[in-house]
Amino acid sequence: MTTRLAGKKCVITGGGGGIGSAAGKLFCDEGAEVVLLDLDEDALAEAATNIISDSPNANVTTIAASIVLEDDATKAMQEAADRMGGLDVLVNNAGIRKFTHLTEATPESWQDIISVNLLGTANCAKAAMPFLRESDKGAIVNVSSVYGVIGRKNMGQYDATKAAINSMTRTLAHEEAEHGVRVNCVCPGGTLTPFHKARFAADGMDQADIDAIQADATLMKRWAEVEEIAYPILWLASDEASFITGTILMADGGKSAK
Ligand SMILES: NC(=O)c1ccc[n+]([C@@H]2O[C@H](COP(=O)([O-])OP(=O)(O)OC[C@H]3O[C@@H](n4cnc5c(N)ncnc54)[C@H](O)[C@@H]3O)[C@@H](O)[C@H]2O)c1
Repeated sequence: MTTRLAGKKCVITGGGGGIGSAAGKLFCDEGAEVVLLDLDEDALAEAATNIISDSPNANVTTIAASIVLEDDATKAMQEAADRMGGLDVLVNNAGIRKFTHLTEATPESWQDIISVNLLGTANCAKAAMPFLRESDKGAIVNVSSVYGVIGRKNMGQYDATKAAINSMTRTLAHEEAEHGVRVNCVCPGGTLTPFHKARFAADGMDQADIDAIQADATLMKRWAEVEEIAYPILWLASDEASFITGTILMADGGKSAK
């Protein structure tokens, strides 16, 4: 075990999901105390059980909550800070997707995705900020997407929320520098999570079909493993990134460089 996050008190939203649970495991392995926060209680329980079974000394607990409403996000951050005796790191990772052409997007689906991806991220940042300001070395890592930076068809609502998260990252970095809180963002490219595997299996796709999706999409010609996104999140959360704020870090296998 190394100790790149030794003593850090961390909340990871979307901690029951693919990237969030991988970040949770890595954070624990690096000495952090971790609260996984997620809407999905079963996914949370599975993520925490897996982390503890791999790393019996892991200091991980869970909070089942939605980040959509400010009151709920505020209660969850307060509970996490009470439990850990403060808060040093917030990873804003929870997110949902919509697979719709913009001309077919409904007001309800816009409200839905903006509520989670954009307002949920803003709610958690606002609720966590008093605790992060009290930390000597507070840090937020937002999880955006390569498609917050480059364009494509079919997921315009999602991509718009991710571009907004990039913008919010820069603004918060400006506003919080004087309070000692760094705010950065990781933009993953296609990352093969259980969510994607289930979606592709439902569509009857085999591994060759899945591999083919990324064959020409990135310079590295493959999907990312969840750990390959968790490591940049870890680094931005750690003191190794102490002079880094307002950065949008591409973790996309070179997709945005094409
Ligand atoms: N997997 C990829 O290819 C990829 C690529 C680029 C960006 N991302 C981003 O990375 C993040 C994690 O992605 P993932 O692939 O692990 O997704 P995932 O779907 O496996 O996990 C997302 C988690 O967020 C939780 N969540 C959803 N709504 C919530 C709410 N209202 N309150 C609290 N929790 C809620 C879900 O229950 C889920 O556990 C997301 O923000 C996603 O947009 C993923």
